[in-house]
Amino acid sequence: MDVGTDIVDIERIAKLIDRHGKGFCYRFFTDLECQYCFSKPQPAQHFAGRFAIKESIIKILGAQTFKEIEVVNREDGKPILNLYGTAKKVAEKLGYTNISISISHAQKQAVAIAVAL
Ligand SMILES: CC(C)(COP(=O)(O)OP(=O)(O)OC[C@H]1O[C@@H](n2cnc3c(N)ncnc32)[C@H](O)[C@@H]1OP(=O)(O)O)[C@@H](O)C(=O)NCCC(=O)NCCS
Repeated sequence: MDVGTDIVDIERIAKLIDRHGKGFCYRFFTDLECQYCFSKPQPAQHFAGRFAIKESIIKILGAQTFKEIEVVNREDGKPILNLYGTAKKVAEKLGYTNISISISHAQKQAVAIAVAL
């Protein structure tokens, strides 16, 4: 078992989106993540939560490519983790069969936690 957590400043992400446009988003986030976040009234808070999840997973698995770590939401909104490529292989090598995640955002920051079993 292992756990990872991270907290991200939403304003920092909003500035990156302002400066670099959608290029920033598509560099670090999958198409599904970008679609989800841009469908929301305040995309930066959802990108920040996903950024925090990616960093949380990196704390568990070690350095990984951001786009190999994906958050999708179930119909009821609950976030689910998908791993691809090397990130998936590393998780398997470490013996993790289930990684649960949770995200929360406030006005200024987004926080995430990942628990790997
Ligand atoms: C899940 C819930 C507690 C979120 O609380 P909140 O204070 O509004 O929002 P937070 O900032 O703490 O969390 C938002 C994150 O919660 C997560 N989330 C959403 N629905 C969830 C659920 N059913 N289970 C677990 N996590 C959920 C998402 O990851 C979301 O972030 P994202 O959209 O960027 O992925 C709230 O929406 C809820 O109670 N939902 C279930 C019941 C419901 O839909 N009620 C509606 C009217 S009664």
